[in-house]
Amino acid sequence: MKTATQNLEDDHVYILKLTDVMEQIARIKEPRADHISEIVDIVRNFADGMHHAKEENILFPKMAEKGFSPDQGPVAVMLHEHVDGRNFIRAVSDSLQLYINGDTSVLPEISQNILGYVFLLRNHIGKENNILFKMADKVLSGSEQEKLLNDFDNAVKKYSSGKTPADYIGQIGVLASFYKV
Ligand SMILES: [Fe+2]
Ligand SMILES: [Fe+2]
Repeated sequence: MKTATQNLEDDHVYILKLTDVMEQIARIKEPRADHISEIVDIVRNFADGMHHAKEENILFPKMAEKGFSPDQGPVAVMLHEHVDGRNFIRAVSDSLQLYINGDTSVLPEISQNILGYVFLLRNHIGKENNILFKMADKVLSGSEQEKLLNDFDNAVKKYSSGKTPADYIGQIGVLASFYKV
């Protein structure tokens, strides 16, 4: 049986694949607006929506019970980085509207914010996989991991974006083959 932290690491594989797609798009002179719009949706509902909900609402509060403060230290840093990620994506989304309306002067800003998100998330996921989740595995019992996993399931089912994680993973796969990453 998988643990809760392994479940999050599985999500990370797809989020990292999405960052590979994003890096390609950021380097294209005239990127496809429909793809950027699709990526904003995937980030907001899958990476930030479902995945960060599991971390912020379920794992991190459990870690707080075990003495990892949400106000300082590793969990606080992770929370702060989630906010930074949201800000990059909001900037992409705002500029995208202008691009769709024909303003190509926003393209450098779009690609800078996409790349900002890409490098932030790769680094963030590296820290979660290699440091934070290892700390969590040390302090969580098998039955606590199982309970978290169950709570993850319920949280994802309750998340009402109209799509399942498998739908988003499928979309990431299609984009990844389109951009050959
Ligand atoms: Fe995170
Ligand atoms: Fe994560």
